[in-house]
Amino acid sequence: MKKRSLPLGRVYRLLEPGPVVLLSTAHRGRSNVMTMSWHTMMEFQPPLVGCVVSDRNYSHELLRGSRQCVLNIPEAKLAQKVVGCGNTSGRRTDKFARFGLTAVPAEKVDAPMIGECFANLECRLADARWARQYSFFVLEVVKAWIDPAVVSPRTIHHRGRGEFMVAGRTVRLPSRAK
Ligand SMILES: Cc1cc2nc3c(=O)[nH]c(=O)nc-3n(C[C@H](O)[C@H](O)[C@H](O)COP(=O)(O)O)c2cc1C
Repeated sequence: MKKRSLPLGRVYRLLEPGPVVLLSTAHRGRSNVMTMSWHTMMEFQPPLVGCVVSDRNYSHELLRGSRQCVLNIPEAKLAQKVVGCGNTSGRRTDKFARFGLTAVPAEKVDAPMIGECFANLECRLADARWARQYSFFVLEVVKAWIDPAVVSPRTIHHRGRGEFMVAGRTVRLPSRAK
C-alpha cells in the first residue's frame, strides 16, 4: 500500500488520545472551565496526569496561581457545552452560567467539580517545571469520583478541526498492561 507524506501540522490529529475533558479551576474568588484534550497518564498510583494548558488561556493563570484543578469527564450528550467552553475565554465570561454547567464543591481542592460530568478527578499540581517552556503541567489526582450508573461512558475524542469520535464498542483482548 502506498502511503503519502503527512504534513507535520496534522500529526496531533492522529495521536490525540482523548477523552476530551473539562478542566475547572478557581483562584482568588474566580472560577473557570476550559476544554482540554492534550493530556496523558504518567503513573498508575498515585495517578499522575500530564497536560498542556496554553499560556494564552485564562485557565493557565488560574492553574498556576492556585496549583489545583479538577478534570471533569463529559459524555457525548454534553458535546455542545464542551465545544462552547473550548471556544470562549473565561476572562470576561462566566462559562458555568453561559453553558449551564453546575459547579459542585470538591472535597480536597477549591476548584469546583462539574455536576453534569460522569467522572471528576480532583488534582493538585505536582510539577510545573515545564510550564514556562511547554505549558505542560503534571497533576496528581488526589480524589476521584464516578457515577456508578454510567457503565460504558460515551466519551468524546478530539480528532482536530471540529471532528470528534464518540467512544463505542468495548472489546476484551489479552493484555499484560494493568
Ligand atoms: C476540543 C478542544 C480541545 C482543546 N484542548 C486544549 C488543550 O488540550 N490545551 C489547551 O491549552 N487548550 C485546549 N483547547 C482550547 C481551550 O479550551 C480554549 O482556548 C478556551 O477558550 C480556553 O479558555 P480559558 O481562556 O477560559 O481558559 C481545546 C479546545 C477544544 C474545542
